[in-house]
Amino acid sequence: MNSCMSHLKQVAVYGMIAWILLFLLVFTYIMQSQRDNSQSLNFYKETHHLTPVKGSGVIMASEQDIALLKQDLNLRNAEENKESYLTEEYRRQGVTTEGHSPTLLRSKVRDSQPLESKWEGDAQGSAGQQHSQSKLQYRGMSYFSRNRLLMSSLWKGSASQHMLSSRLQRVIHSYKNLNKHGVVYTRKRSSKLSGQELHCELKKRVHVRTLNGSEAPFSRLGWKELVPQRPLDQLFDPKLKTCAVVASAGAILRSSLGMEIDNHDTVLRFNAAPTERYEKDVGTKTTIRIINSQILASSTHWFNTSSLYKDVALVAWDPAPYAVNLETWYTNPDYNLFGPYKEHRKSHAEQPFYILHPSFIWELWDIIQGNTDEDIQPDPPSSGFIGIILMMILCKEVHVYEYIPSVRQTDLCHYYEQYRDDACTLGAYHPLLYEKMLIQRLNIGSEDDLRTKGKATLPGFSTMDCGA
Ligand SMILES: *[C@@H]1O[C@H](CO)[C@@H](O)[C@H](O)[C@H]1NC(C)=O
Ligand SMILES: *[C@@H]1O[C@H](CO)[C@@H](O)[C@H](O)[C@H]1NC(C)=O
Repeated sequence: MNSCMSHLKQVAVYGMIAWILLFLLVFTYIMQSQRDNSQSLNFYKETHHLTPVKGSGVIMASEQDIALLKQDLNLRNAEENKESYLTEEYRRQGVTTEGHSPTLLRSKVRDSQPLESKWEGDAQGSAGQQHSQSKLQYRGMSYFSRNRLLMSSLWKGSASQHMLSSRLQRVIHSYKNLNKHGVVYTRKRSSKLSGQELHCELKKRVHVRTLNGSEAPFSRLGWKELVPQRPLDQLFDPKLKTCAVVASAGAILRSSLGMEIDNHDTVLRFNAAPTERYEKDVGTKTTIRIINSQILASSTHWFNTSSLYKDVALVAWDPAPYAVNLETWYTNPDYNLFGPYKEHRKSHAEQPFYILHPSFIWELWDIIQGNTDEDIQPDPPSSGFIGIILMMILCKEVHVYEYIPSVRQTDLCHYYEQYRDDACTLGAYHPLLYEKMLIQRLNIGSEDDLRTKGKATLPGFSTMDCGA
């Protein structure tokens, strides 16, 4: 009887322990999934330029996003999504692949369009081995031949959105649907202006503006004393003779342009683009850096300690709503750059450091849309375009390298990162294709310079006579 009772007791105790264990298990599971949820929300916040493409559940990134994505804690997650998506995309396009990396985009051309000799030479020279190693088969137009057609259209200024891959077209379509910044554009759109007329329109309309503390909320926050006293457009005086703009595209690798770039009075670079280890191709000199707000806001960039941001003039920007309400923008920027800016200004008062006024950014957007027949993405121009225009304001002559892609074109997003996506060259979030078409029209250098060096030559605004 007694042993029976103690047996029952034992059973009861074990039962209770089992229940407690089960409860703990369920509890930790719930906590875990809540954390995962908030992480994925964070991820969305961190990369909120990214739009899920309908049906695929996949997140695609733009040029600006890639740099951040690369360093984002959730990178692996994103890349896995991207890769499985791309593989699926190729399968549907009838491309069979070995391996599964996005690098598989490079491939052998099957169709019989005549290759331009220059292109052929370069393509065979630099990527030939890759080509023969890859076992890609094509149906219809290959990635490579479509890309070749697109590049030569860019050099000639006749590229169109319809030439983009169906993937890019879909992503662009979803950015248009999203219209994150509330863009409303009702004015004319026409691509009729000649290069010179376009140049004069830009000269007339574009006035660089930075936050100078004269408007609310910055006026009441004491920004008049915080910002540099010398206006950005008078930063360099007298007008610099020659300026180089160095795009971060992967295609600048093996260009040997370093010395040519360093021969300019001033060199502009973008975001976290380094020179160390890449001197031969990109040069060593940096005078100005254009940085997007992610560089300031994200701790992964070490903005306050990295040598990349020392001993140079800094120009930061962040996309405000199209309607340019500074109060709204201040309380809800894309990435919070205001705090870090203030800190940096206080500790490095002697360093020229500006935040571009959003009206300047959107004026540039208006000019791109106004001079393009197609509807462009309702998202701000790239740092590249902003930097080029800024240099046209500051310099007598501007040489832009590897912004319009040369024959070295590749889908490697940045020369300093192993990340591949043709959106980095052709644009998903930013209206890159149209920006490049505009720069092509402004180019007074030769088409051969574009092809072989990726070099565009633009006269500074001060040198151009546009009449009264
Ligand atoms: C600030 O910028 C505005 C607009 O560009 C200009 O009208 C104003 O004079 C500037 N104020 C100062 C103090 O520089
Ligand atoms: C740099 O900024 C981070 C926050 O982003 C801060 O924790 C750190 O203390 C700063 N370092 C210096 C040297 O100011």
